[in-house]
Amino acid sequence: MIWPHKDLISIDDLSKSDIENVFDLATSFKEVSTRDIKKIPPLRGKTIVLLFYEASTRTKLSFEIAAKRLSADTVGLSASGSSFEKGETLLDAAKNIMAMAPDCIILRYPYAGAPRLLGQMLPCTVINAGDGFHEHPTQALLDMYSMKEHFGSLKGLNVTIVGDIMHSRVARSNVYGLKKFGAHITLVAPKTLLPTGVEQWGVNISTDLDAVLPKTDVVMMLRIQKERMKQRFFSGEREYSCFYGLNKKRVEKMKKDAIIMHPGPINRGVEINADATESARSIILDQVENGLAIRMALLYLFLGGGKRVD
Ligand code: CP
Repeated sequence: MIWPHKDLISIDDLSKSDIENVFDLATSFKEVSTRDIKKIPPLRGKTIVLLFYEASTRTKLSFEIAAKRLSADTVGLSASGSSFEKGETLLDAAKNIMAMAPDCIILRYPYAGAPRLLGQMLPCTVINAGDGFHEHPTQALLDMYSMKEHFGSLKGLNVTIVGDIMHSRVARSNVYGLKKFGAHITLVAPKTLLPTGVEQWGVNISTDLDAVLPKTDVVMMLRIQKERMKQRFFSGEREYSCFYGLNKKRVEKMKKDAIIMHPGPINRGVEINADATESARSIILDQVENGLAIRMALLYLFLGGGKRVD
């Protein structure tokens, strides 16, 4: 297979058939993680730099484990403890890292556009691991894969994304990705947490979670991103939870076969409580497991398995 891409910055960089190829490969890589020796050789000799200027548990660890399962060498750098603390710019850091000849830089950055800039400046592959409010394409891929694994198809699926849409790169990437596959998307949030221009996204918008829940197949809860809020967007967490939190009463309103998702990390008791996270409908840990397989597939395609046509 010819893999035509150098970088992954936005889910819109990938066509529907590219995404289907990622999904097929992820399915075959899931088996590797069940082996006694969880390692295969395709990326032997490749060097991957994990450059995380924002906190991460799932994305950083799963990229690192994915790379190691494919026999690549990894090295991680975060803002804290790096020369970022001495005022070095991202671009200067990246040029210096490039002098050490990595094959791939995986970048998480607090502001939109940084991965695109690095991708344009550097000859190695750049993968966006989340840039500000903009995009988190690998999260959307693992979310879409998890929905497809559960329901068999994304076409016609009613997906409801609930919460802090304004600050959510996960919501943006999922909307762009799910639309390619014909899913019906509804965003539910207080008006203050909807971004400007959301009417142009081609999705349904509601402020009433209780009205939407009984019609949805997938309910994806989003974290309230307090660290990005410079003002108050709602009067308090208790009130937010009352109108937009997923709890036992609301889980009981869901369709019999509907599922609960959350990209993590969770604010327990705010957007979701234990009755929902621990319910049989929750596929939150399947998302994490699938994230590893999706990232193995991506690293394989970007660094080894597909010959790029430049
Ligand atoms: N879903 C997600 O991006 O989690 P982390 O911030 O822990 O990587």
